Amino acid sequence: MPMPIPTHGRPAGDVMAMLEEAGRYDLPWREGKTFAYVYEGGRDVEEVAKQAYMRFLTENALDPTVYPSLLKFETEIVAMAVAHLGGDDQCVGNFTSGGTESCLLAVKTARDYARTVRGIAAPHMVLPVTAHAAFQKAAHYFDIGLTLVPVDPATFKVRVEDMEAAIRPETILLVGSAPQYAHGVIDPIEGLGALAERRGLLLHVDACIGGFILPYFRRLGVAVPAFDFTVPGVTSISMDFHKYAYAPKGASVILHRSKELRRHQIFTAATWTGYSVINPTIQSTKSGGPLAATWALLHYLGDEGYLRFADRTLKATRAIADALRTMPGVRLMAEPESSLIAFTADDFSVFPIVDILRKKGWFVQPQLGYMGSKANIHLSIDQSTLDLVDQFVPDLAAAIREARALNDAALPEPVRQLLGSLDPATFTAETYQQLMALAGTGDGLPEGTTAINLMLDAMPPEVAGRLMTEFMNDLYALPRRPAA
Ligand SMILES: Cc1ncc(COP(=O)(O)O)c(C=O)c1O
Repeated sequence: MPMPIPTHGRPAGDVMAMLEEAGRYDLPWREGKTFAYVYEGGRDVEEVAKQAYMRFLTENALDPTVYPSLLKFETEIVAMAVAHLGGDDQCVGNFTSGGTESCLLAVKTARDYARTVRGIAAPHMVLPVTAHAAFQKAAHYFDIGLTLVPVDPATFKVRVEDMEAAIRPETILLVGSAPQYAHGVIDPIEGLGALAERRGLLLHVDACIGGFILPYFRRLGVAVPAFDFTVPGVTSISMDFHKYAYAPKGASVILHRSKELRRHQIFTAATWTGYSVINPTIQSTKSGGPLAATWALLHYLGDEGYLRFADRTLKATRAIADALRTMPGVRLMAEPESSLIAFTADDFSVFPIVDILRKKGWFVQPQLGYMGSKANIHLSIDQSTLDLVDQFVPDLAAAIREARALNDAALPEPVRQLLGSLDPATFTAETYQQLMALAGTGDGLPEGTTAINLMLDAMPPEVAGRLMTEFMNDLYALPRRPAA
């Protein structure tokens, strides 16, 4: 129901206590027990980031001409990103709110570049199915055609010839990932770069999750293939600071090989009655907090600090991957090439593992099956994981044993058939209610998140999408009770 603004103000202490109470049931992250959503640099890193963030919380990066501090932070962060990713002094970039915004801007830039330079009116792009969904979001938002290219079923890397086969006359952009999120492997960026050059196309490398840490892994002796501006044909790269640079959320960059390209990213408007709008990014008004915090952490941790964090992350990743290799019934989806692990099982459902581990305080991420990638469990590992490996591995092994022994983890056959036959064209809010009731009844279905994951996995993906839309539409409903 609609909620009136509280009539009387309250003392700050009371309000803070109310906030604490509201946060009581949130996923705990400080102990390093979450394998998604959070990258934990430790108390001191958190403190530096928070202080820097709060110092520039109110400054508005909408207008860098009146906040030279923010312009300095942004240009220096971008300059460090360019150096980190093998760029030269022709490269340019901008700070954005996150990986998704960086990917959206790469696509928007490619669209407007192709429209201006090549006269393409109905653009299309080619991506591996493993590219982050942010590119599908870009296609959706910007009305761009899309071909999803299947990947090699053994390595989960896209094959250059398959990408080439999907190119059309109106194709404007190819995408490769370094690494892709789901399985943590790196697409053949050098091959894609050569393809882009041969066909006169732009190539975006999505290094949102790996761009920051991979150069450190290379320095630690890992054979990381070239994936950055050192590869001819790569025209833009996205890289997040709010992942392996341990910055607070709202920190990423989109980099371009030249100002010629970046020009098409910028939106300006002198055609309204208000102030002149000059936006290089999607956000207009934006807090200086994320910029200041990112800049501060780069100085606080420095290259040495990040190398140490990468070393800890690499050790933790190897330890967990090695442990998984010895656990009966499960297998790694791919050899980890970064700090990400995905594992699956062939004769039982892995989804119950999520709930079993959650009861022990661990958060791991379920991933649905799609186009040759079976349902699996994803782990994003960070520097904080290393101290917990000895605690996590036995819990993981026990959870796998338990999930394996569960014989109710599969959907009853009639339910599976019903779900498989759902049609997105006839999916209504009522279908949603019926499906949620089914998931909630426990009527022959497993408990917790397992039921809904199994159901989503058994439906045609378009129907799963519809269900998720209805779910979100419901979740952000007005609160049912008035404020206490
Ligand atoms: C490869 C890749 N691209 C893009 C994104 C989207 O980033 P964000 O969640 O910051 O929008 C992610 C997030 O994990 C990612 O791993």
